[in-house]
Amino acid sequence: GAPVEVDISNLKPGEMMTVAWRGKPVWIINRTDEMLTDVSKADNEVADPHTKKPFSMPLPEYCNNEYRARADRKNLLVAVAVCTHLGCTPVARFQEGAQPNLPDDWPGGFLCPCHGSTYDLAGRVFKNKPAPQNLDIPRYMFTSANTVVIG
Ligand code: FES
Repeated sequence: GAPVEVDISNLKPGEMMTVAWRGKPVWIINRTDEMLTDVSKADNEVADPHTKKPFSMPLPEYCNNEYRARADRKNLLVAVAVCTHLGCTPVARFQEGAQPNLPDDWPGGFLCPCHGSTYDLAGRVFKNKPAPQNLDIPRYMFTSANTVVIG
């Protein structure tokens, strides 16, 4: 599939947008510093913190870090919104506190409505969930300060 160019100039901190790439939804999330802190806190609660076993594509080498993002734009998460269990589309739950079936102290992330898998704000699956792997991170690059090219 062809690369997709996305203008992120209107993507405010704490917001996300969804684009289509190779027929799949891809999220672009402008994480706040607080959200990045929540990623760090989740390190011990996720099944594969360093994405040793990627799902359907290798983790780009420049995203092989704590935030699973380009180091110079670590706030920006680009992730394929396909649950690694049976392929449903998870929904974003940011900083909303208690949700049905979620612990009160869950910092937020993504919840798959099909069988309850949860992912952190870097798309890493929490332990003991039906989904076995982290969400895919596609290759992407910036061609200007507000233009990201996926694929
Ligand atoms: Fe997401 Fe089963 S498809 S938990």
